[in-house]
Amino acid sequence: MKKTKIIEIKGLCVRYNNISILKDIDLDIEEGAFLAIIGPNGAGKSTLIKAILGLIKGYKGQIRIMGTPLSSFKDWDMIGYVPQKAAHIDRIFPITAYEVVGLGLKRGIRGNNAARYINNVLSRVGMEGYADKKVYNMSGGEQQKIFIAKAIVNNPRILFLDEPTTGVDIKAQDAFYELLKSLNIEGMTIVMVTHDIAIVNKYVRQVACLNKTLIFHGDHDEFCSSQNAIELLMGEHHLIAHRH
Ligand SMILES: Nc1ncnc2c1ncn2[C@@H]1O[C@H](COP(=O)(O)OP(=O)(O)OP(=O)(O)O)[C@@H](O)[C@H]1O
Ligand SMILES: [Mg+2]
Repeated sequence: MKKTKIIEIKGLCVRYNNISILKDIDLDIEEGAFLAIIGPNGAGKSTLIKAILGLIKGYKGQIRIMGTPLSSFKDWDMIGYVPQKAAHIDRIFPITAYEVVGLGLKRGIRGNNAARYINNVLSRVGMEGYADKKVYNMSGGEQQKIFIAKAIVNNPRILFLDEPTTGVDIKAQDAFYELLKSLNIEGMTIVMVTHDIAIVNKYVRQVACLNKTLIFHGDHDEFCSSQNAIELLMGEHHLIAHRH
């Protein structure tokens, strides 16, 4: 059976101050994918995610989400997003975990319903009991879980994460990726920017390798044998391994 394309990108070009940042990107993401976007610093990974989310003005090319052109796409409740460095909460911003997650809740859900959504998702990420705690007092890993909870509170069809585990310890990372894996098994499409090749090898099913242009896009196994992808990453990583 042919899988539905949840994201379709054709001929995407982004320029900042007349400098080409993304060039001729053609990328389709199938519903149910667990895709890693990898590539060196400055490769345009965050820019690509932002373009899909409609946060970049003046791009060239076509982007469709769930079959709808980006310019007329309205169902943003179906999209979760954890931006790069999300877990930077200022000490002068005394917001609780409950309130942070509540910020992600779609409009129109109030009172007991809102409380049910928020408490459910806090327990889903292992943060039940933290609802009334100030987020700025939490550790980096705990904060990150709160931001994931905010991103998935509406049970989105697709979840974008931009380097979600920076500063999170190895044990917390494992729990975090197990959570992503179970969300993916339940049907959520996951698109994650990461520099962590070990995680790519362990959890991810598809890889897009970016360096202004799309160097490679395919299944993890093909990625392991892609000379282009390996050459691009060799400067940073030597850990590309075959999964058994
Ligand atoms: N708003 C902006 N204005 C001008 N240049 C920008 C802007 N945002 C990003 N850039 C430039 O675009 C390029 C790509 O940035 P981007 O953040 O997409 O890279 P990245 O692949 O996510 O890198 P990293 O791995 O460091 O997060 C960089 O050279 C960056 O300096
Ligand atoms: Mg980035």
